[in-house]
Amino acid sequence: MTMSKPSIAIILSTTRQGRFADKAGPWIRGLVAERADMASELLDLRDYPMPFFDEPASNAWVPSKNEVAQRWQHKVASFDGYLFVVAEYNRGLTAVLKNALDYAYPEWNRKAAAFVGYGSVGAARSIEQLRLSCIELQLAPTRHGVHIQGSDFMAVYRDGKDLKQQVRYLEPNVTTMLDEFHWWASALMAARASSR
Ligand SMILES: Cc1cc2nc3c(=O)[nH]c(=O)nc-3n(C[C@H](O)[C@H](O)[C@H](O)COP(=O)(O)O)c2cc1C
Repeated sequence: MTMSKPSIAIILSTTRQGRFADKAGPWIRGLVAERADMASELLDLRDYPMPFFDEPASNAWVPSKNEVAQRWQHKVASFDGYLFVVAEYNRGLTAVLKNALDYAYPEWNRKAAAFVGYGSVGAARSIEQLRLSCIELQLAPTRHGVHIQGSDFMAVYRDGKDLKQQVRYLEPNVTTMLDEFHWWASALMAARASSR
């Protein structure tokens, strides 16, 4: 059986003006685009301005009434995997991303997740939290993550250095992570198709 290549959403975790996500998102998207084995689309939560969760239950149980939430769920459903571009706010996940995770459920199930983080410790702590939420959402998280840390982050964020030049040494790490992500996204695509 020939399967089409996995379709991947690159999801930005922040929405504030001047966000670093506008550097990290296009950087990782550029590296994904160099590969022929996955298709990608950048998903911006600014385009899905949902209220703080305000439904009778998760949409695992009760269909959501909010129209933006319905549009978000529809969009999430169309992908085979999610590459999260993760910031860290007070050692945790950004509220806007957690809210967006909560606004879908079956749409995330049995798909792959991977992570690019940035911040003083490369968002390692918020990504650990996100990995735990992935379990509940029935997402398979990759072992490898990519972390833009400390001096690299500050060189770009504060000193205006070019991100791609600054973190060229991370590109083999990106390849390892994307290879693993691709394996899981493809395996789960096939498994979902055969159990439909
Ligand atoms: C409310 C808030 C809390 C923050 N807490 C942390 C933190 O716990 N760890 C960290 O590494 N950076 C922290 N930072 C700094 C962020 O890493 C930095 O502002 C980064 O650019 C945020 O991502 P964004 O620009 O896409 O919003 C915090 C920033 C904000 C606005």
